[in-house]
Amino acid sequence: MNLLIIGGGNMGGAIVRALLEDSKRIFSSIFVCDANREKREMFLRLGVKTILELDFAVCATCDVILVAVKPQDFSGVLSVLQNFLGAEKPKLILSIAAGIPISFIRSYLPSVHIIRIMPNTPAMIQQGISAWTAGREVTSHEKKIAQKLLRTLGDEVYIENEGQMDAVTALSGCGPAYVYLFLQSLILGGDKLGLSKEISAKLAMQTVLGATLLAEKSPADLDTLIKNVASKGGTTEAALSHFEKKRVSQNIQEAMKKAFLRGREFGRKFKKT
Ligand SMILES: NC(=O)c1ccc[n+]([C@@H]2O[C@H](COP(=O)([O-])OP(=O)(O)OC[C@H]3O[C@@H](n4cnc5c(N)ncnc54)[C@H](OP(=O)(O)O)[C@@H]3O)[C@@H](O)[C@H]2O)c1
Repeated sequence: MNLLIIGGGNMGGAIVRALLEDSKRIFSSIFVCDANREKREMFLRLGVKTILELDFAVCATCDVILVAVKPQDFSGVLSVLQNFLGAEKPKLILSIAAGIPISFIRSYLPSVHIIRIMPNTPAMIQQGISAWTAGREVTSHEKKIAQKLLRTLGDEVYIENEGQMDAVTALSGCGPAYVYLFLQSLILGGDKLGLSKEISAKLAMQTVLGATLLAEKSPADLDTLIKNVASKGGTTEAALSHFEKKRVSQNIQEAMKKAFLRGREFGRKFKKT
């Protein structure tokens, strides 16, 4: 089984690397189509076949095609694929584009089988979480192929209702950026309190990592875990009451709503009937 990845940027590149490191070798050959020469040269150095433009021969030889270009480049790619994909043997198309609905892809390529995925950047070190959903036409065998691919990137979760993909995007798709902002704030805070940048960064990163692992492993809920750190009248409580006064939790939820609405907006833009 061969895979063609269209767009070898941040996410496409992460997927290629994860697949190359995976001992199970789901795909016998991987092709990357990317407009950028430097990226193609980098893939060649990794031993991956590359093409500048889509062509019939490569499309014919690949059973699975993963589209990893930015949403604004998506229609262009679908228009070209239209010339190369016939109805005789349906291909499996995996799309990782934020906000682009399955119906939009189907309007260009009516005979393909479509899976929509929302990965996140920790996939670069096989620590990602991907949420995915499939069109009704997708077979259980094809779902297993997608699941195996996504497990090389970290964990995965199947979403029954495609309408929830914008919520997923607002949480785990964008989420790494929220965490980095929090990390950055902790590091700046440590710096302002007189710590060196290096010590501040080390303390902040291991705190976020360790606290997350504890939350995952501990039977206690998050409220209890917070109470375990914050004794009455103590230092943590002083910080938490400031967070509360500034409505930090509500602000995070409102920010997620903004990401969600932007995803919806993309979705409406890409609605094609
Ligand atoms: N980054 C994230 O955190 C994240 C998370 C989840 C999902 N996604 C989704 O993943 C997709 C890719 O995002 P990204 O961050 O990986 O973008 P990116 O780094 O810009 O990668 C896209 C790549 O596709 C190339 N490209 C553009 N048009 C092409 C075409 N017609 N044929 C072949 N290659 C083409 C670009 O080349 P040029 O640079 O020369 O234009 C670039 O190398 C997006 O749809 C995004 O919504 C991203």
